[in-house]
Amino acid sequence: MITYLRNVSPSVLDGTALLRLDFNTKDDWRMRAVIPTVKFLLDAGVTIVVVSHRGRPSGGSLVNGVPTGFPSDLHLRKDAAKLSALIGRRVAFIDHFRFPEIKERVAASPHGSVFLLDNLRFMPGEERNDPKFARQLASLADFYVNDAFAVSHRANASVVAVTDLLPSYGGLELQDEIEGLSRAIMAPVHPVVLILGGAKASDKLGVVRRFRSRADTFLLGGGSANSILALRGIDVKESLRETDPKVLAALKPLARNPKVVLPADLVWGRGKDAGKILDLGPRTQKLFAARIAAARTIVWSGPLGFIERAPYANASIAVARAIGRNKKAFSLTGGGETVMFLKKYGLDKGFSFISTGGGAMLDFLAGEKLPGIVALGKQRMRPRTKKRNARSVA
Ligand code: 3PG
Repeated sequence: MITYLRNVSPSVLDGTALLRLDFNTKDDWRMRAVIPTVKFLLDAGVTIVVVSHRGRPSGGSLVNGVPTGFPSDLHLRKDAAKLSALIGRRVAFIDHFRFPEIKERVAASPHGSVFLLDNLRFMPGEERNDPKFARQLASLADFYVNDAFAVSHRANASVVAVTDLLPSYGGLELQDEIEGLSRAIMAPVHPVVLILGGAKASDKLGVVRRFRSRADTFLLGGGSANSILALRGIDVKESLRETDPKVLAALKPLARNPKVVLPADLVWGRGKDAGKILDLGPRTQKLFAARIAAARTIVWSGPLGFIERAPYANASIAVARAIGRNKKAFSLTGGGETVMFLKKYGLDKGFSFISTGGGAMLDFLAGEKLPGIVALGKQRMRPRTKKRNARSVA
């Protein structure tokens, strides 16, 4: 069973928290989602060492513990400034991985200090789930909090191995994710509408399988629709679609499924985009809106068109608006691209729940066991009894 931070008395939380967050987005919406957790910990008077990753760095190395030669946009210095602005308190950025030195600095700081380490994926042990690297991280803190749902599908050292070494808790946002996403799969109220778009259908196969009996309607756009149209013998020309025979074989049952509503009209690109389906037309938008209006549970993953360009964002906007109008349904979505799009058009407020996860959300909805969540549930370390030392409060 996961021990959630929300259910723990602040009097149990003592010393320093190692707080795993996920800052892996172009804007700061994932950071904003976890501010209540940071504040919760600060209210309890603890010191926080925040850790996160960004991107999939390669090519650099460590020189005297300092990450060197990695792309500059993968460092987290700017995130320290952003986090500091959001919590109204100094966040000290640590630009090296010399753990004994970091440990000393954290131990010497006043209660309530906040530190941010640089991108954990600069360290080879992170993605290998290396117990040695986990020990180095654990040496900095008295307990661990995972509020990084979006990376909880990765067996990384700061997500999994570290839970063997410290009393571990699920953060406020992680709890909301588990409860929100479970609502769509445990006993969803019917009619259930699953909307699938995005470039690839292959990453949604697990969700399709899980919802085969749960969903009443599948609305398809983007690469998912193109692949099914192609499987039904329609010429989609140069449009994005799956070509891997294994993926196509897995998609075949969906192509035959009578619950699937395919686009009725398509918007094709022009000029250098000729021959590519880039959005769904007005008849399809109406058709989809009608199904959405009747739904009581709506799950949406992946844009329905090439939303990076405004003329091809119409179907996604129409669907988001239809979801916002249906006040009776429980509606959820997630994934970096979709969420940034919804925020850009001010349409995010119309959803009951927005997941910070992309791959993690899809894995959870597909019923897969997320290593980070399994690890939190298994951990057996008990918190130590509160014993304040003489450090002053920041
Ligand atoms: C995400 O953005 O989905 C998470 O941060 C995980 O990133 P990853 O796919 O590079 O592991």
